[in-house]
Amino acid sequence: MSKILITGGAGYIGSMLADQLVRKGHEVVVLDSLMFGPDSLHHLKSFQNFKLIEGDVRNEVLVQECISGCDFIYPFAGIVGAPLCEKYPKETVEVNLDSITFLLSILQDQKIIYPTTNSGYGTKKENVACTEESKMEPISLYGRTKVEAENLISKTGQAVTLRLATVFGASYRTRFDLLLNNFVYKALNEKKLDIYEGHFMRNFIHIEDVVNGLIFAMDNFGKMKGQAFNLGLDSANMSKIELAKKIQEYIPELEITENNLLKDPDQRNYIVSNEKIKKVGFQAKITIEEGIVEMIKTVNLKNKLISYI
Ligand SMILES: NC(=O)c1ccc[n+]([C@@H]2O[C@H](COP(=O)([O-])OP(=O)(O)OC[C@H]3O[C@@H](n4cnc5c(N)ncnc54)[C@H](O)[C@@H]3O)[C@@H](O)[C@H]2O)c1
Repeated sequence: MSKILITGGAGYIGSMLADQLVRKGHEVVVLDSLMFGPDSLHHLKSFQNFKLIEGDVRNEVLVQECISGCDFIYPFAGIVGAPLCEKYPKETVEVNLDSITFLLSILQDQKIIYPTTNSGYGTKKENVACTEESKMEPISLYGRTKVEAENLISKTGQAVTLRLATVFGASYRTRFDLLLNNFVYKALNEKKLDIYEGHFMRNFIHIEDVVNGLIFAMDNFGKMKGQAFNLGLDSANMSKIELAKKIQEYIPELEITENNLLKDPDQRNYIVSNEKIKKVGFQAKITIEEGIVEMIKTVNLKNKLISYI
């Protein structure tokens, strides 16, 4: 059993990862400023092998204390997504990049598993799948800080970096700003989707597959270390319009329109190959269709709860 620090462990991905690691018997410490509250981790409080520390990754003394004795670190704390980063540029650089620089400066023999965004691939040629060798060309501040942090972390040789596709699915802190989750939310509540850059291709992955991939990287650290891996679902390389039409199959009253005025801040238009991680033995499994059904249930439940308040 390992001692594991998850910074940002109260978030969308971190809370699901913490849950799995605690249930596997690892000693798990979460350091999180609780931007979105503590609810996502309430269910873990009774576990002896779980500890939540409310704090900021910019607090150097605290970070030093937290990493002491750890075998693995998942540095997930971040200002996440292009819109939030544009709103808080100073905090974005401090949290997404400077805190990583500091962490690396005090690293001893702890191993790191880091989540980059594959939005860093930017705009690529049609029908040519991005591999880990493809050039990273992030445009937004979010993408730039994530890719820069990945570069720094990679240089340690003590890390695995995973370039995540756009995640979908429910979590202890479900994010409704992620593309599939957002489309289902709007499809049910507004019955209308006005889509910009509809032909842009994206790759997707379910949150449970992300968590399994993150744990796979820990369990197979020896053969994966020092490398970057795309982490997505091969059958889920699709355009925004294709995704919307897929959702329409489940919500037939949905009206889809195209908006030519708005632009994607990261100009994400790429398909992704997940062959490299498959070769070391990991494959994402949960389909887009399963994710849509799950999100319909999640949004309906959320709406029901709101109507009781
Ligand atoms: N969700 C995705 O599609 C996706 C894709 C690629 C990469 N990632 C990366 O995965 C990580 C987690 O993303 P998420 O979707 O769970 O986001 P999230 O916003 O749900 O979680 C981020 C967490 O970080 C915490 N945090 C923010 N600033 C902090 C600070 N200064 N100190 C301590 N904690 C702080 C927040 O409270 C939150 O709990 C991020 O690094 C993100 O860039 C996510």
